[in-house]
Amino acid sequence: MQAVGVIGAGQMGAGIAQVSAGAGFRVLLADTDLARAEKGKAGIAKQLDRQVAKEKMTRADADALLGRIEPVGDVSGMGDCDLVIEAATEREAIKRAIFESVGKVLRGDAVLASNTSSIPITRLAQASPDPARFVGVHFFNPVPVMGLIELIRGLATSDETVATVEAYAQALGKRVVRANDAPGFIVNRVLMPMLNEACFALGEGVATIPDIDAACQLGLNHPMGPLTLADFIGLDTCLEITRVLFEGTGDPKFRPAPLLVKYVEAGWYGRKTGRGFYDYSGDEPVPTR
Ligand code: 3HC
Repeated sequence: MQAVGVIGAGQMGAGIAQVSAGAGFRVLLADTDLARAEKGKAGIAKQLDRQVAKEKMTRADADALLGRIEPVGDVSGMGDCDLVIEAATEREAIKRAIFESVGKVLRGDAVLASNTSSIPITRLAQASPDPARFVGVHFFNPVPVMGLIELIRGLATSDETVATVEAYAQALGKRVVRANDAPGFIVNRVLMPMLNEACFALGEGVATIPDIDAACQLGLNHPMGPLTLADFIGLDTCLEITRVLFEGTGDPKFRPAPLLVKYVEAGWYGRKTGRGFYDYSGDEPVPTR
């Protein structure tokens, strides 16, 4: 495999572009316009500058990596990509429109993958040019740091497609786990109920924000407490995935915590909006209750 297309130059797409280029692939990084794609690449450059400053990477390697990433304003140049990964906004209509446009240029043997965290792969495959060559590849945030890829097969996904993604993941040095096309796959099926439960605990007055986070961080040896992690992922995303679990299984144990719903209704999405369970407007995050 030589060339990888990445559609969506936000946090996840930029991370996927960075690790792909780091593994030696040529990367086309697309967004809705060239300026957004270039902004994604600029974010990667900043990230690499930090690695160079910490002497974890040489300047020459960082420049070579960046040189393999070409920002593009649309998907029309992805005809020579062997693998195209969609990492756009988690809205089905947007993803379907992307699959339709990239489907017009995709090579007959290329694989199309979605980084969706919650939309069923078998359903999304219906909007792809060939469901046999469509697959879910779920990366984790921050992509350069997290060592996992969940590989999700749709009903029609072929063995060749799975093998292509496994070879790609191996080149990236990431461990692949295979998950069935069930709501939340593996990680979000296990993680979101924990984050949601932390919201219930806060709403019911079990403890304060810093104490809930400290309890899980120090008591379970997690890198971040659940409320910090929810802010990091985005409360809107957490709610969206929790709703997928609730609706997809019909099981009331997945019902979203009222406090999580309220925060999202208030527009308090976490880090990305400057406020969630913590206020991020100063130098250090400050708990809001
Ligand atoms: N991009 C690239 N590298 C990053 C980064 C980023 N955004 N953030 C941190 N790093 C790197 C740093 O450069 C540093 O690298 P080094 O060891 O080579 O110097 C290393 O990660 C550690 O960073 P820091 O020392 O700054 O900070 P921490 O030690 O506090 O670690 C963290 C930060 C890696 C984010 C850690 O807190 C963590 O692992 N948190 C949990 C993250 C998690 O659970 N992610 C999964 C979310 S679920 C998901 O993505 C699925 C989706 O569908 C919702």
